[in-house]
Amino acid sequence: MGKLQVIDHPLIQHKLTIIRDKRTGTKYFREVVNEIARLLAYEVSREMPLEDVEIETPLVTSTQKRLAGKKVVIVPILRAGLGMVDGMLDLIPAAKVGHVGMYRDHETMEPVEYFIKMPSDLPERELLVVDPMLATGGSAVAAIDALKKRGATNIKFVCLVAAPEGVKVLQDAHPDVDIYTASLDEKLNDKGYILPGLGDAGDRLFGTL
Ligand code: PRP
Ligand code: URA
Repeated sequence: MGKLQVIDHPLIQHKLTIIRDKRTGTKYFREVVNEIARLLAYEVSREMPLEDVEIETPLVTSTQKRLAGKKVVIVPILRAGLGMVDGMLDLIPAAKVGHVGMYRDHETMEPVEYFIKMPSDLPERELLVVDPMLATGGSAVAAIDALKKRGATNIKFVCLVAAPEGVKVLQDAHPDVDIYTASLDEKLNDKGYILPGLGDAGDRLFGTL
């Protein structure tokens, strides 16, 4: 079973409150989503493997550490995942970025894939799939299905707000994928929105309310 890690650092909790508030407008919402993504990237990268490297400081030769792991690909689920990319790239600037376009049909709540563009050599890479919301879990599961079909084997899912229902669906479908979230919220409402949640993340990020 993939682990669920709730990253509830005080700075993250404070910033989440700002984006949950319905009075927060698009510009500020976008800024704070990126700030939270940056803080999440710090935690998500905590277990990245290191290797020894010999360097010369101005004084001596010394064995130090550098990142040794697979090359990272940040994979936003469009649209709302785009809001987390710049914040993640601030900490992992050499990462590549792949895109998966997925929207939830408002009637059926089923995910519909409409775009996918990934870097090559997916089996060699560590993928950080990012989306602010894990609600029913349908979009995350479908996105990860599509990535595994293209050879990805090492995947983490990073979100801002998760519903318990979505966590279970994702863990059942992809037990090898660890989930990182800034908050585990209470539940879904009957339209599949997360409560208390923050509303429609894509609409709030892009001003399409
Ligand atoms: C939102 C969100 C997730 C999905 C979560 O996207 O960004 O991708 O819903 O819901 P689920 O877990 O029930 O699948 P949406 O479909 O609203 O598309 P958008 O990002 O283009 O607004
Ligand atoms: N998608 C969103 O953007 N918000 C929710 O609460 C659920 C799905």
